[in-house]
Amino acid sequence: MKLSIDSANLDEIRKAAAWGVLRGVTTNPTLIGREETGFLPLVKEICSIVDGDVSIETSSDDTDLLVRQGHEIAQIADNAVVKIAMSPGGLGACRILSDEGIKVNVTLAFTASQAILAAEAGAYIVSPFLGRLDDISTDGLRVLSDICEIYSVQGYETQVLSASLRHPVHVVESARMGADIATMPFKVFEALVRHPLTDAGFERFTDDWEAAKPHLGELPPSMQEA
Ligand code: G3P
Repeated sequence: MKLSIDSANLDEIRKAAAWGVLRGVTTNPTLIGREETGFLPLVKEICSIVDGDVSIETSSDDTDLLVRQGHEIAQIADNAVVKIAMSPGGLGACRILSDEGIKVNVTLAFTASQAILAAEAGAYIVSPFLGRLDDISTDGLRVLSDICEIYSVQGYETQVLSASLRHPVHVVESARMGADIATMPFKVFEALVRHPLTDAGFERFTDDWEAAKPHLGELPPSMQEA
């Protein structure tokens, strides 16, 4: 499962990229609107940082306008993916753009039936929003599981991107269910690496190393520094 960050903040994206595990970025109008950098410089910079797909969202439900927006977004960078909200007009645009070889991420998917439509419209990615389903007392992971099962049975090539993730359990369960991609806010990304026993263990090893160094003889220079 590819790990992706759901952010338009350049500091967060650079930090996540430095870990060597970041395979993509998803943005949306809310995230873009929080930043002070202009739209085009911002999304171009994001595309240059990440070696992977960067989803950039359109803003319409009209097929013709979406196709024009899709053409322009696809020109921004080789790794730009056109993000289109689920709607009849969005599906029509997805079909046209996909037939032209443009990668489309169909977003705001909340049901397996919507995911079937996205796949049938030729989407490159479908994005079910787990956390927002959980927020209204519907099991987001169950919907993801249904989508992954149906895609497997049907042999759909559309990638399932598990989105709106709130915590590491969402990420782990997405991997277990067979999601192709998981996108998450930076705070969830950071939470994946942390464990109190890891922190305590590292601190103890560091202290023990410091105490042992004086009687360990010659050390490689970099080990002496540590
Ligand atoms: O970018 C799409 C999605 O991940 C949004 O998540 O946290 O706003 O529900 P959230």
